[in-house]
Amino acid sequence: MIKIAIYSRKGGTGKTTSTFNIAGILAKNFKKKVLVVDADSQANITTYLLQTDQELNGGSYSFLNDTPTIEDLFLYPEKINDTIRNASFSLTEKGAPRKRGIDIIPARPTSISPKVDLDKINDLLVSEAIPGGQLSKAFSMIRHTRNHMYDYDFCLMDFAPANNRLTMDLIAACDYVLVPTTIDPASINGVSGLIEMLDNIRTEYETRVSLLGIYPTICMKNTSYDASTLTDMKTVFKEKYIDAPIRYSTETKWSIDMGVPLAYTKRTAPVTQDYSTLVNEIIERTKV
Ligand SMILES: Nc1ncnc2c1ncn2[C@@H]1O[C@H](COP(=O)(O)OP(=O)(O)OP(=O)(O)O)[C@@H](O)[C@H]1O
Ligand SMILES: [Mg+2]
Repeated sequence: MIKIAIYSRKGGTGKTTSTFNIAGILAKNFKKKVLVVDADSQANITTYLLQTDQELNGGSYSFLNDTPTIEDLFLYPEKINDTIRNASFSLTEKGAPRKRGIDIIPARPTSISPKVDLDKINDLLVSEAIPGGQLSKAFSMIRHTRNHMYDYDFCLMDFAPANNRLTMDLIAACDYVLVPTTIDPASINGVSGLIEMLDNIRTEYETRVSLLGIYPTICMKNTSYDASTLTDMKTVFKEKYIDAPIRYSTETKWSIDMGVPLAYTKRTAPVTQDYSTLVNEIIERTKV
């Protein structure tokens, strides 16, 4: 299982939208088995991928109160097999929901008052009330069960826009970091901080996590500002630049509203092609 952190310190760079659609392309076009991990206390990707379960439960996510979620793994890593849920969705209004090869370790949405949310986990890590490295431990304990796969090809972890102890602990559990960046100077400047952070994580946790690449999101390539900034990014990021800019498209918002990744409903849309180019490059760069 190749574990990829989809991370940027800056908010609103398309991390969650990317995670949702990269998972869709990997599962639908490449027949890969995908495990998504929601590592953000906002629990956005949980609500996107478990929309069907929410509808079947009277419009509430309270069913997540009855099962362990990501937060619990920091205390009880061995519970990982009980946290994994299948994302299922139908492709037509009247069709029955079906599993699609995407599973998720959810976070508890704040709407159901999590007992311990990820922000609290960060405090517990800082005070050393809980040890670091629990998630790596948990990953090594994934087993086949009646409800879920175990031989995942890819694990995609959706991050909060934070740079704290929890971020470091989560990144340390991954093999690669993939960075979506919007087209603005702040995003470009933020990358040197990220490289330093990865150096610290490798030393502190004795891991080999590396930067998979940086790709632009929410772009308008036909505007002169975006076009010239994309050229600058290529020069600055060199081999770490992934030439797969994800264009601005409201179709991304529709797909999230429906809880169905673009690969299933908008196969030929230009923005889906952008994600597909990105996934091709991810597969190429993670080949061993
Ligand atoms: N390609 C795109 N075209 C148009 N809108 C997009 C695109 N990608 C993302 N968005 C929109 O941009 C906003 C931020 O996206 P998203 O939630 O994926 O970012 P994020 O990095 O996960 O944010 P956060 O840092 O809060 O977790 C959302 O409103 C989303 O619908
Ligand atoms: Mg997000």
